[in-house]
Amino acid sequence: MLILGLNMFHADASAAILEDGEVVFGIAEERLNRHKHFGGFPSLSVKACLDAVGAKITDLDHVAVGQDSDAHLAKKVQYALANPAKILNFIRLRQRKEGMRDVRSLLAKAFEVEAKQLRFQEHHLEHHIAHIASAYYCSPWEKAAGFSYDGSGDFVSTMMARCEGNDIEVLDRVFLPHSLGSFYTMICEFIGYKKYGDEGKVMGLAPYGKDSCHPRVSQIVRLANGSFQLDLSYFKPLGSNQGMQVLPDGTVRLARHYSSRMEKLFGEPREPYTEITQRDMDLAYAMQRRFEEVFFHLLNELYHRVPLTDLAMAGGCALNSVANGKIFQQTPFRRTWIQPAAGDEGLAIGAALHTYHSVLKQPRRYEQKHAYLGPEFSEARIEADLKKANLRYRRLEREPLLEAVAAEVAAGNVVGWFQGRMEWGPRALGNRSIVAHPGLPNMKEVLNARIKHREWFRPFAPSILAEHQNEYFEHDHPSPFMLHVYKIRPGKRKELCAVNHVDDTGRLQTVTREENPLYYALIKAFQRKTGIPVVLNTSFNENEPIVCAPEEAIDCFRRTKMDVLAIGPFLAVKSEN
Ligand SMILES: [Fe+2]
Repeated sequence: MLILGLNMFHADASAAILEDGEVVFGIAEERLNRHKHFGGFPSLSVKACLDAVGAKITDLDHVAVGQDSDAHLAKKVQYALANPAKILNFIRLRQRKEGMRDVRSLLAKAFEVEAKQLRFQEHHLEHHIAHIASAYYCSPWEKAAGFSYDGSGDFVSTMMARCEGNDIEVLDRVFLPHSLGSFYTMICEFIGYKKYGDEGKVMGLAPYGKDSCHPRVSQIVRLANGSFQLDLSYFKPLGSNQGMQVLPDGTVRLARHYSSRMEKLFGEPREPYTEITQRDMDLAYAMQRRFEEVFFHLLNELYHRVPLTDLAMAGGCALNSVANGKIFQQTPFRRTWIQPAAGDEGLAIGAALHTYHSVLKQPRRYEQKHAYLGPEFSEARIEADLKKANLRYRRLEREPLLEAVAAEVAAGNVVGWFQGRMEWGPRALGNRSIVAHPGLPNMKEVLNARIKHREWFRPFAPSILAEHQNEYFEHDHPSPFMLHVYKIRPGKRKELCAVNHVDDTGRLQTVTREENPLYYALIKAFQRKTGIPVVLNTSFNENEPIVCAPEEAIDCFRRTKMDVLAIGPFLAVKSEN
């Protein structure tokens, strides 16, 4: 049985395919069309899914979409009527969405077949149920507390659920305009980070701030009986899309979120690319602190309703790895399973798995043990691309390749590491990564000057052999998808100085041999040379979606000052090219 899951006409459009309940393949459209956060129809992703299982579009049994625009219609109408300026928008949005719901016609057009040839059944699932499904059904658990939170999806920003067996029982929802994601976005915009997805950057700025504006920022979002409410006077009325608009070319644009009240309280908003002041850092600090307070308030309420210590979580805000790292101190939850594609690309997996288990009542058998669900490329294809680019390279067997790369990293060189199947989700986890020495004091500056050109305040992340986590970090809950930030132990901060953030934390990836044998062996080889069981791992890209195909990796290697490219069994060195 083939089930295709889709996130479409929404940020981070994506597709994933299930074969008899196993997730075989998943990818976000941005990786294929190279349009960051693309929010149109993911036709290339669908084709990649079908190719992965050797099927045609007419072979699909079910297609599930992680969006249901009819959900909570009455609430949306009520909201539009209370905000007359938004009524026209609301009607336009509804009209536009009509055509976007017709999955059969869209797929028929994309694959040039007659709609009647498509025999699949179509399913639409509410956004946040799809998020929770993407975590719970991928976890090894038979029951768990389910939680999802983000900016907005189907007029909801937060959902709590009890997950048991095949079922996800929704216990509570927070409806728009109240949204913890919008609170975060609003302050990010106010301090000059206005693009979709900038929130992750500002999280890195927060620890540079002082605790000077927390009482004022706390007024913007208030705790209320196990839930929360925004003080809407700080926000512009945003409409039922909560200020997020997908343009006809698939670009995701954010409307201005903050009202003039923010300016009265905190002064002029910061213009992008201007100097970051202490005020901006203090606001980032207060935003993160308040976000965490509300998050833990919600999680403690969830535990009260579902007294289980396992938490299955997704939604864009679940990418807040700083908050995730504190769950074990601040709540009774003892284990987390967070979907690596916690943002909206993960809806494709959630919708597909929900169809299999909840709609079709098929037994649980799948467990997502790694994030390598994307495409891989043959040695012949890689070599052809190297030749086309006129690069000098040599081919090495596994052990000599690992030795050579480990020696380069140990010598302080920056290596593009392109191996196996691409990661699913926004993090590079050792298959489309740039690796470097974690213990050289200037490595962060080197990477930024030569390749990444990121904001000075953003930390780089460590990949650590899982068995050494406890030696280096103050918490031992695994972080296989780089979704937890923990304190680095005082005695290890110097050794990891290039990945030790200003607050002595690191957003670690714990690596096991089972999850990624080659990457594990690379770190092990580096450890043999340096004594450090850790490498610095940053995504293989330069202001673009993470590279997917060999030619994109080769192009990034050539246009940046990367020292070495290890691509499949081939090694290319910049000084020889
Ligand atoms: Fe979402």
